Amino acid sequence: MGAAASAVRPGKARLWCRDADFAGASHNFRYTDSQMLLNLTILPGDGIGPEVTEQAVLVLQTIAEAFSHQLQLQKKNIGGAALTAANDPLPPDTIQACLSSSAVLMGAVGSPAFDHYPNHLRPEAGLLRLRRELGAFANLRPAVSFPALEDTSPLRTEVVRGTNILIVRELLGGLYFGQPRSIEGAPGSRVAINTMSYGESEIERIARVAFDLARKRRKKVLSVDKANVLECSRLWREVVTRVGKDYPDVKLAHQYVDSAAMLLVQRPTDFDVVLTENMFGDILSDQAGGVVGSLGLLASASIGGVIGLYEPVHGSAPDIAGKGIANPLGAILSAAMLLRHSFGLESEALCIENAVSSSLDEGYRTADLASAKNPAISTSAMGQRVAETVRVSRSLPQ
Ligand SMILES: NC(=O)c1ccc[n+]([C@@H]2O[C@H](COP(=O)([O-])OP(=O)(O)OC[C@H]3O[C@@H](n4cnc5c(N)ncnc54)[C@H](O)[C@@H]3O)[C@@H](O)[C@H]2O)c1
Repeated sequence: MGAAASAVRPGKARLWCRDADFAGASHNFRYTDSQMLLNLTILPGDGIGPEVTEQAVLVLQTIAEAFSHQLQLQKKNIGGAALTAANDPLPPDTIQACLSSSAVLMGAVGSPAFDHYPNHLRPEAGLLRLRRELGAFANLRPAVSFPALEDTSPLRTEVVRGTNILIVRELLGGLYFGQPRSIEGAPGSRVAINTMSYGESEIERIARVAFDLARKRRKKVLSVDKANVLECSRLWREVVTRVGKDYPDVKLAHQYVDSAAMLLVQRPTDFDVVLTENMFGDILSDQAGGVVGSLGLLASASIGGVIGLYEPVHGSAPDIAGKGIANPLGAILSAAMLLRHSFGLESEALCIENAVSSSLDEGYRTADLASAKNPAISTSAMGQRVAETVRVSRSLPQ
């Protein structure tokens, strides 16, 4: 968020731009402020990460051209790619590049080749360190049912229609970061320990993010915990309830995580903003991906620190890597979130989201969403389709 302020606006030139072409509204016109410097670090990572990131970059390049922004990219290694190159899943030059840019776009990390490595030398350790280095404590994960994809949900159409959930997941606390953590003892009698720990200030700051975002949506926050069993959850519920009193216009409810998981498939349209801790959010957001059709569609923004980090929710998908069949839409929609949250470029973000939506309306599908009626196109064909839709809607030459 702070990055928006540091983004360079080199000139005062004001441009006419069509703003609402993509929402099906009549053509509204507006002034944009000026050209912006979009100074980004790109971290393709492992598996399908490079494939989907390439398409997100293509769409960002098209947006930069269409809205007269200047795109400045530097590509760095993370995860398994960085382990191979430098024996470190998050090398110092990657951290430096991220901290010197205005936002970071990542693909995914993880590879079976490193599964036997010690914890601190696994690809995922690089990503956790990066989130901490950037101070990105608030992970926003929207799960939206696109009208064209209602029939790809495993749920009945009438159950999934209209689903629009924003999961606000705490990202720097809980079991993924708590100390002590270890596996100790002799083989056969080893004991493994992880620690879940949350402080009041950590809970309060993520709760405020959720309530602030709910105010811009349907004004409902569902706080998900396990307060009947866990002390962390009891404190969580107490602090969230206290913060909620500052937002009397937002309706707050609490739910245990097990029953929230059940309700998510029974009545997904009841959910607006879901506020939850790190691991519960990790699990519920993948489930939400299944509800709306494919994990490959889900985007995320990790904000709240010095620099925003944007990445699709899915992992490196080694089972389909290198085949050109991965769905790039989660990565492309993450680029939209980057423009919105790190640069305040709402029209540009909407332009991407509407190009994705209309590409799906026209029947374009990657393998994860294809059917007899809508056969699969490749990862790159889908990226090009979205980019072309942006070009057409902005009246750029093809
Ligand atoms: N943020 C991240 O980088 C992140 C997140 C989750 C998992 N991981 C890592 O990724 C690796 C694989 O983990 P996993 O298999 O549990 O999860 P995954 O998300 O990579 O894959 C789960 C399933 O979804 C499919 N899938 C995922 N993304 C897709 C896409 N864009 N298009 C089409 N299908 C897609 C995969 O083919 C697979 O069948 C592991 O090393 C894990 O640690 C990384």
